[in-house]
Amino acid sequence: MPLLSLDNITLSIGEHSILKGITFSVEQGEVIGLIGPNGSGKTTLFNVISGFLKPTGGSILLESQDITKLSPSERAKHGIGRVFQNFGIFREMTLEENILVALEALPKNARKALGNLKDVVRETLAMVGLTSSAKKKAGSLSGGQMRLLEIARTLKSGKELFLLDEPTAGVSPKMTIQVADLIRELKAEGKTVLIIEHDLPFIAKICDRVIVLDVGEIALSGAPAEVQKSKKLQEIYFGADPTT
Ligand SMILES: Nc1ncnc2c1ncn2[C@@H]1O[C@H](COP(=O)(O)OP(=O)(O)OP(=O)(O)O)[C@@H](O)[C@H]1O
Ligand SMILES: [Mg+2]
Repeated sequence: MPLLSLDNITLSIGEHSILKGITFSVEQGEVIGLIGPNGSGKTTLFNVISGFLKPTGGSILLESQDITKLSPSERAKHGIGRVFQNFGIFREMTLEENILVALEALPKNARKALGNLKDVVRETLAMVGLTSSAKKKAGSLSGGQMRLLEIARTLKSGKELFLLDEPTAGVSPKMTIQVADLIRELKAEGKTVLIIEHDLPFIAKICDRVIVLDVGEIALSGAPAEVQKSKKLQEIYFGADPTT
């Protein structure tokens, strides 16, 4: 049974049809890249999966449960974790405090399963090489470090399905490698990841499968190598080649 299934998801805002019938399934443990030009509906699709937007039509199943009508917080309890395109870090709090508040907000069972929260905070900081900054205010971090902190915090939250929206945007090449390592670590733990990225080589390195959105529809999907060499991908990004 797939972990997540989207069946004919549509979303219209006024006259504007943003998602036009999206159907796909994700198996547990898969890492899936979601790519597509600006405005193709990637972030909107994440909003629909995490519950911040209600689809106009279609349904979403998590394992066998229909979650289409559940709120974002109910979906989070069911194991959907989201890293936002913009930062969700409290700049006035220290790094330790930022991780601790997120852990303390978890449902009781998930929190208990993690064991000693102080240890989890330490592990999380170590995971992204920020141990020496534990007592610093998050606002003093670089954009890239803040992004890593946010990703690490979500990854330690006991979720099953992770939605990462452009996790490497504004992140240095060295930290991009760290983000890739974090995602590989998740996969090794059997977690499932959906990741939006514009960096195709990055996607090709870490994903099992790539789905390409174009104006609210799935235009193409398959193994990264297949998608990368597809003529259709060129057309989507650069328009049809007039010589063919
Ligand atoms: N709340 C909204 N009201 C009206 N239109 C919206 C709303 N949110 C998104 N849109 C429109 O929906 C389309 C898809 O936007 P979305 O942000 O999902 O694209 P994206 O693929 O994530 O793009 P990017 O790569 O730039 O992040 C765009 O045309 C956008 O203008
Ligand atoms: Mg987006």
